[in-house]
Amino acid sequence: MDDARLIPVPQTSGPKIDTSLANVARAWNYMVGGKDNFEVDRMAARQLMEVAPVIRVAAPESRAFLGRAVRYLAGGAGIRQFLDIGTGLPSAGNTHEVAQLVAPDCRVVYVDNDPVVLTHARALLTSSPDGVTSYIDADARDPGTILAEAASTLDFRAPVAIMMVDLLNFIEDDGVASSAVAALTAAVPSGSYLAVMHPASDLDPALLEAERHWNQLAAQRVRLRSREQVEGFLGGLELVEPGLVTVPEWRRAADEPAPGEPIPLYAAVARKP
Ligand SMILES: C[S@@+](CC[C@H](N)C(=O)[O-])C[C@H]1O[C@@H](n2cnc3c(N)ncnc32)[C@H](O)[C@@H]1O
Repeated sequence: MDDARLIPVPQTSGPKIDTSLANVARAWNYMVGGKDNFEVDRMAARQLMEVAPVIRVAAPESRAFLGRAVRYLAGGAGIRQFLDIGTGLPSAGNTHEVAQLVAPDCRVVYVDNDPVVLTHARALLTSSPDGVTSYIDADARDPGTILAEAASTLDFRAPVAIMMVDLLNFIEDDGVASSAVAALTAAVPSGSYLAVMHPASDLDPALLEAERHWNQLAAQRVRLRSREQVEGFLGGLELVEPGLVTVPEWRRAADEPAPGEPIPLYAAVARKP
């Protein structure tokens, strides 16, 4: 967005859009090649890329993982319902677009707590006629609200894929993050899935430096986690092959170009037995 496009957004209630500090949804949008961001977000993103140049490659690699995971889930795994938490701003290859290309009857619920994402949510509600998409303005730390509202669109007696791609790292408290995952996975039946992408704290020191930097610049703090900590979120679930790996290692297609450098982002898809 150029800055002017946000000004007419009605803000009669709810949180105001803060353009004085870098915002995660908008900075991420810039990193994945989008235009829905302000100078403050672009500056922060550029500074992060200076501190950790791998971010330039890592952000699009993460989106590519999201696409592969959704294709796998709607394809071989036969999933028809998605709960995508920490949706971000609409971008190329949104979950419903990828899923409904595989199976047009997929039902997708998006959840984000950012007012900027809310103002752009209409762009996510472009379902195929056979499927459904809906958007919930809610916080991942409040799974009760998410489950209650998502039940208008999703049937929780049938399998659901819960997508948490670059989300849990914005929930700093380990206990709160674990309880949110536990509550959500408890609410879905056997045969459901959880897809996670989480930046690593134990693979690339430059990413830790970027974490420190971001936490000085931005409204919402980030927390990297180790392999062991990310594994902790997947307890009780069965990892789909190839297990917990870095994003480019997760079912990359033979014709997808490799990033050419290690990407310090953990990725996994796990099935509820
Ligand atoms: C880095 S973006 C990732 C977007 C998308 N999942 C992707 O992979 O491209 C993280 C998103 O999570 C959202 N987010 C962060 N903390 C959240 C929370 N506690 N509840 C809901 N959404 C949250 C942010 O607003 C942002 O849109």
